[in-house]
Amino acid sequence: HFREDSMQKLYVAMVGLPASGKSTLAGRIREALLGEGINAEIFNNGELRRKLAGPRSTEASFYSPQNEEGREMRQKIALANMEAARQFLAGDGTVAILDATNASRRRRRLIQATLTDYPVLFIDCVNEDPVLREACIMRKTELPEYRGYTTQAARDSFVARIHYYESIYSHVGEDEKYWLLVDTMANRIVGESALESSPYYPAIREVVVCTWVKNLYLIRHGKTEYNEEGRIGGDPMLVEAGRLQAAAMARAMEGRVIKYIFTSTRRRSLETASYLSRDRPGCQVMQFSEFDEISSGDCEGMSYTEIRRKMPEITRARNADKFNYCYPNGESYAMLMQRVQRGLRRALFLAGGAPLAIVGHQAINRILISMFKRQRTEDIPYIFVPQDHFYYIENTPRHRLIERIPYDD
Ligand code: F6P
Repeated sequence: HFREDSMQKLYVAMVGLPASGKSTLAGRIREALLGEGINAEIFNNGELRRKLAGPRSTEASFYSPQNEEGREMRQKIALANMEAARQFLAGDGTVAILDATNASRRRRRLIQATLTDYPVLFIDCVNEDPVLREACIMRKTELPEYRGYTTQAARDSFVARIHYYESIYSHVGEDEKYWLLVDTMANRIVGESALESSPYYPAIREVVVCTWVKNLYLIRHGKTEYNEEGRIGGDPMLVEAGRLQAAAMARAMEGRVIKYIFTSTRRRSLETASYLSRDRPGCQVMQFSEFDEISSGDCEGMSYTEIRRKMPEITRARNADKFNYCYPNGESYAMLMQRVQRGLRRALFLAGGAPLAIVGHQAINRILISMFKRQRTEDIPYIFVPQDHFYYIENTPRHRLIERIPYDD
């Protein structure tokens, strides 16, 4: 029933609870399509709601399925945006992205019944990471619409709003023809009913799975006593040379905007980060145990020489397969991969596209670098991570940049 050229244009309808990463993904899809020369636009129900319904639509009760007035208003807004999207495609628009919860099957049926000229691809966003959900909720409480609320009242109200949506939310897949089910935190496609015939579908899918990075600075902590003695692990502070490195790093980063700094929970990471946050008042520093250095278990605090002498079998086994070798009661690089990747995804999600820095450790930074370098897994434990250079990384489907920049250039 579509028009003859129907595959030349597309509606994308986001689906998901508030704070599930829909708008972030919608923005990326738009940006990626624009980069391909495809005219894409976002039609956001929330923005229109704030304009049309004003402050009363901030109250949680506005979202109660029992609130008839709220329900009508939301439907009116949804229809207005559908109409705007339809006009966009009727003109020179190519991909119209409807950014709204579209949580109920009923709403999605309405979309499919209203927008019949071109196919509709539903993208259902799921975010089950409790840390990120909480962070997203807290971020919402800072929106202008919650001015006049205390933080606690804003949080309670937003959580109540989510509950109302939860009560009507169902995943895509029953009535919808084309859909993607996405784990937004993991950048994973969990299920799909593919729209292979659309020329935009492959590009959209790549955006979903891309570790999308705009401005990432990757820093290794400055020199510690352990570094000087070739000892591993532990929780040492920086030595004088390390403090000088951290100061040089901060100088080298001068003029570069950074909104978030993620550290490990180790003192050498925090101390190094303090040089960077010092002159950046609005910058948030967050500690992630995901970025703690590889645990060397029974070998913590020992030097490589000591290990070779006292436990030669460890040195031998590690040399034979450094990536997979797991220290007794400690970790391997292979194990590290999981938690570091989770840490990076959380950090990127929290930064929400703003420039961020991670102050990590040797093994941690090797894993992080490897995520953007595409190299053989077995080579990861040999990546050179100097303490007087930082990395600058950008990564989108069309563009990859990974630069190593010395502090005293
Ligand atoms: O030597 C510093 C350090 O960060 C140690 O804490 C850690 O065990 C080691 O680097 C990781 O590097 P490699 O895997 O090469 O031993």
